[in-house]
Amino acid sequence: MLSGRRIVLGVTGGVAAYKAAYLARRLMEAGAQVRVIMTRSAGNFIGPQTFAAITGTQPITDFFGSPEVSPHTDLAAWADAVVIAPATAATLSRIAAGLAEDPLVATVLATTAPIVAAPAMHTEMWEHPATQRNVESLRSDGVRIVGPVVGALAGGDEGTGRMAEPEEILAAIGTSFPADLGGWDVLVSAGGTREAIDPVRFLGNRSSGKMGNAIAIEAAGRGAKVTLVTATEPPDHHGVDIVRVESADDMAEAVWSRAGSATAAILAAAIADFRPTQPKVRKLKRAEGVPEIDLEPTPDILAGVAAMDPRPLLVGFAAETGSLDDAIDKAKHKGVDLLVANDVARAGSGFSVDTNQVTLITPDGATDPWPLMTKDAVAARLWDRIVTLRSEGRGT
Ligand code: PMT
Repeated sequence: MLSGRRIVLGVTGGVAAYKAAYLARRLMEAGAQVRVIMTRSAGNFIGPQTFAAITGTQPITDFFGSPEVSPHTDLAAWADAVVIAPATAATLSRIAAGLAEDPLVATVLATTAPIVAAPAMHTEMWEHPATQRNVESLRSDGVRIVGPVVGALAGGDEGTGRMAEPEEILAAIGTSFPADLGGWDVLVSAGGTREAIDPVRFLGNRSSGKMGNAIAIEAAGRGAKVTLVTATEPPDHHGVDIVRVESADDMAEAVWSRAGSATAAILAAAIADFRPTQPKVRKLKRAEGVPEIDLEPTPDILAGVAAMDPRPLLVGFAAETGSLDDAIDKAKHKGVDLLVANDVARAGSGFSVDTNQVTLITPDGATDPWPLMTKDAVAARLWDRIVTLRSEGRGT
């Protein structure tokens, strides 16, 4: 959900600033890009170099010292979300009053991205009517307030005012993005099918299901009702309904019976093209010699969905090795709205790995190559593209 997302992390002057370093690290681990803005007083609690080392970019500390001409508007436009952790009473009051005297408040005022704030201060400051008024006013402006929680505070005190834990803030950021797939019924296929040779052996392929799983999880995170038809290990995600299958026939039945009512179908499974004509009921014995195995074609699931009327917005995948010519041909003739070709011969791309290099191909043969990215990031960008296709009226 956070992979590929661009997060501005605002750090203000409180002792919990040290936890912001961990939050930055967790965001990076989740695949987000992170830019940090520190207020002047944050520098009394943690050094900019810590954030530079974690995020790979020097934090912005004032309007005029950075190479950007206008750091606040650049970051405001760049951000998918702005998170302020810790958020002091002073910073909350400046945001509530619109006092854009520092790059952090200026960025918050200049952005249209969702804003998450994790207040941290002493109990008396948190409970003061001025702070509560500011928090209410921020809430009504759409700022998501996470915490504070009860616990140990600076100077050995205890009470409400401790910053929420980084994991809780991370979860809040993850759910702050717009639910642009709300009301969608999404069908995703994943994994590699297995075609029985005998009760022990099968014809299979190297698909791990990671690509399809990432697409399903991203769609669920964006508010869709998601069904994942999978021939491999399903993800453990409460928002994804799992239908487990084994063979191409099972997958055809599961996909075809659901696709007619789906808004979008994304077929990322690696389905066998051929299967043994007559799987043996008994295990083949070595002593009986090398068997001859006759093969027959499996159903073309993608073609079946493309022929439906009405049919969902349809995205197919194509596993290619090098040239895109066959994939372009598939995009033109398979009846899809979009084809995602991946180079399965390239290191770090295709089967089983966590990254993928894909090229999007439209039915007119136009290609849009994407750089090597995590499969989570591919899934996020792919959904952005599918939302645009849908807004152009694709899928019935
Ligand atoms: O699962 P991972 O390890 O993460 O790997 C991801 C992946 C490489 C499997 C995935 O990104 C991918 O490329 N999936 C499609 C692989 C494939 O079967 O490509 P193809 O070019 O053979 O098929 C083209 C399309 O036709 C696919 O959408 C496929 O689902 C569909 N098809 C294929 C055969 C068949 N009998 N019926 C089909 O519908």
